[in-house]
Amino acid sequence: MLGRMTAETISLYDRAGGTPFFEALVCRFYARVAADPILRPLYPEPDLAPAQRRLTLFLIQYWGGPTTYDDERGHPRLRMRHVPFAIGPAARDRWLELMRAALAELAPPADVAGELDRYFVTAAEAMRNRA
Ligand code: HEM
Repeated sequence: MLGRMTAETISLYDRAGGTPFFEALVCRFYARVAADPILRPLYPEPDLAPAQRRLTLFLIQYWGGPTTYDDERGHPRLRMRHVPFAIGPAARDRWLELMRAALAELAPPADVAGELDRYFVTAAEAMRNRA
């Protein structure tokens, strides 16, 4: 008897549906960033596809999936990587708003949605580097 598999024993990565879920989430998020007057100017590259890939791989790794992000980019050090971008409360709030809209479209199970939402609230504030 293996015992019941619970939310504690299965990674969020697997509960969410693995890589296709994170690809769909970040794809929807970046489609919004591309059209956003606050966020789009913060992104240095004309092509958002590489940034989309980096966020996808980071989230996959963070939530228990393959560690391709580390292999390609090294240790995340996300606060440090965001220092070059002026992120104040308005940018933080917009980032969270667009990510929540992307998440709502995918409508994952309630446990997955709740954990992701709590994480994004905390992480978005952690990236703020301007009053
Ligand atoms: C939940 C919070 C956030 C997470 C998990 C996150 C994650 C990431 C990751 C993984 C990268 C690529 C790092 C690399 O490998 O170089 C990145 C880049 C970036 N992030 Fe964030 N970020 C967050 C919040 C924000 C916020 C609030 C803003 C601005 C409002 C922002 C703007 C940017 C920009 C402009 C880049 C550069 C694009 C690139 O070249 O990858 N991020 N972020």
